[in-house]
Amino acid sequence: MEDINIASAKENVGRAGFLDVEVDPQLDLFREIERLKKEKNAIVLAHYYQEPDIQDVADYIGDSLGLAQKAEKTDADIIVFAGVHFMAETAKILNPHKKVLLPDLKAGCSLADSAPPPLFKRFRDQHPDHVVISYINCSAGIKALSDIICTSSNAQKIVESVPADKPIIFAPDKNLGAYLVKKTGRDMLLWNGACMVHEIFSLEKITKLKVRHPKAKLIAHPECEEPILRIADYIGSTTGLLKYTQQDDAKEYIVATETGILHQMEKASPHKTFIPAPPDNGCACNDCPHMKLNTLEKLYLCMEYELPEITMDEELRVAAKKPIERMLEISAKYGL
Ligand code: 13P
Ligand code: SF4
Repeated sequence: MEDINIASAKENVGRAGFLDVEVDPQLDLFREIERLKKEKNAIVLAHYYQEPDIQDVADYIGDSLGLAQKAEKTDADIIVFAGVHFMAETAKILNPHKKVLLPDLKAGCSLADSAPPPLFKRFRDQHPDHVVISYINCSAGIKALSDIICTSSNAQKIVESVPADKPIIFAPDKNLGAYLVKKTGRDMLLWNGACMVHEIFSLEKITKLKVRHPKAKLIAHPECEEPILRIADYIGSTTGLLKYTQQDDAKEYIVATETGILHQMEKASPHKTFIPAPPDNGCACNDCPHMKLNTLEKLYLCMEYELPEITMDEELRVAAKKPIERMLEISAKYGL
């Protein structure tokens, strides 16, 4: 590996968003990452959408709620977040005194980007009597403007926790929001955001695939559009989808979410077949381009140099923490 000092490493991260340094291809990155974990008392948290190698080296793999809960409880000194920016930011909000690292600072989220805080503030201010529930896939700025955060695995319980006479704003995912309106019967005001990965599935191609695989069950993430959800056999968060494939007795599944989850599904049920739901564009795939910015090399480098690091304005952090704590309290109450 190139020999670089911390000043040039920082400059490098400022320019590229990650440590753009050659890594010796002979290096056993799995062993190196294990060594760094022990030396630095670091924990690697990974989302299911990370590439298989990253999942295999992680201490914990989970959905957004599981990752936030794990980040809240860890006694590691360094949290290495193999996921996207809003996830690492959530870990930092919960752990102001710990170092939180993200292998590539440019690992963003189209859904989080769809809600710029100044615009959202204007919208919220137009509806001052509304309770604001925001999906965790949003920036700290949006969290600070919210009353409660939710994830796909606790969203229904969070919506139902709001007294029936209180109007609700739900942001930023209009698809998850519409799904919740249907599930709970609450007429919520929805922000017009969506995830670029979950909007890509083709109803026509899925229908054709179901004809070719009549016994396959369609399982979908609630970030998918309504026509896909309408024909799904099961709808749930990434952890929910994984558990469903473990407990259900079908042998084949068409999976309408990011393809990273297939790694754990195949590991847990090696005798079952998992088919990624086809996208509506021949040259696009269901990989999240943000999630897939992280690589094993970048993960290793960020642990070695402790860069890029998530930092945050303290006033913003404190404001963003309140609605996350509210979510964690409600989740704990329901054993989620
Ligand atoms: P969950 O893992 O919480 O279901 O979220 C999916 C997702 O899109 C994360 O970016
Ligand atoms: Fe954001 Fe969608 Fe990627 Fe998740 S899959 S990080 S919601 S763009």
